[in-house]
Amino acid sequence: MSDVQKVKNYYDEHIKGKLRGFVQENPRIERAWQTVSTFAPAEVTQILEVGCGIGDTCWRMSFQWPRANVVGLDISPKSIEIAKKLFGSDRISFVEGILTKDTLQAKFDLIVLMDVYEHIAQSDRHVLHEALASLISEKGHIILSFPTPRHLAYLREYVPGGIQPVDEDITVEVINQLAKDTSTEVKLYQEVAIWHPGDYAHAVLSRPDAKWTQESYKENNIALRSQNRLERVVRKLAFENPILSRKTQRIAFIRKKLGQHAY
Ligand SMILES: C[S@@+](CC[C@H](N)C(=O)[O-])C[C@H]1O[C@@H](n2cnc3c(N)ncnc32)[C@H](O)[C@@H]1O
Repeated sequence: MSDVQKVKNYYDEHIKGKLRGFVQENPRIERAWQTVSTFAPAEVTQILEVGCGIGDTCWRMSFQWPRANVVGLDISPKSIEIAKKLFGSDRISFVEGILTKDTLQAKFDLIVLMDVYEHIAQSDRHVLHEALASLISEKGHIILSFPTPRHLAYLREYVPGGIQPVDEDITVEVINQLAKDTSTEVKLYQEVAIWHPGDYAHAVLSRPDAKWTQESYKENNIALRSQNRLERVVRKLAFENPILSRKTQRIAFIRKKLGQHAY
């Protein structure tokens, strides 16, 4: 079996875990979401999520940026099938595959890689970098979350079952190389604590023309807080199209879209 097929099979077989993450609010995703919603520009029109899994973050981004088109891409056919059923809409589309410079014909002002960059083999990194370089807009941002090499070393030693088919160390040097290859600047690199101190890192890269001032982040935060208040009202009022606030609602949503036995 080719390595690509092994990777596809692995993630196809982990759909249940992805659904569980959506229902139970995975703390890794919640923390990454804070970084995305704080450091992405307030105005975004084209968004790409690489390694979107079942598409829940694409969906969330579509609420955060109500005028944006969102494209989610993933190597796992099953994830994309589920993502389409759960969250596909006129503004959210999903593409199965590996990102190369020819996969998509658009420019994106926000590109998100949430826990996926480390799953790209080192030998394929240049293909991804080339693709990102051709897809990022003049004022675009790339936002990544990934485990720190320290955390991967811990997993390799003590929780080897937690290691995925491809799990590469992402060092500061790797992020600097990504910035170089995509003509972006590293605007933020921070370690965060999800389950252990410094187990994950978040990086924000942006093109030199992108707006990047303390003020723009302050504006984002204020907008985010009022949007969150609005979201809560929307959740209560519109069960048909909610950002589902309760676990039971999310389970009901999955069952409605995928069938009673899906969760
Ligand atoms: C750890 S999961 C993260 C999913 C989601 N972004 C999240 O934060 O929960 C890694 C995802 O990357 C996808 N993936 C792995 N290798 C990939 C590749 N070479 N190209 C595109 N997607 C890939 C997997 O199918 C899986 O959905």
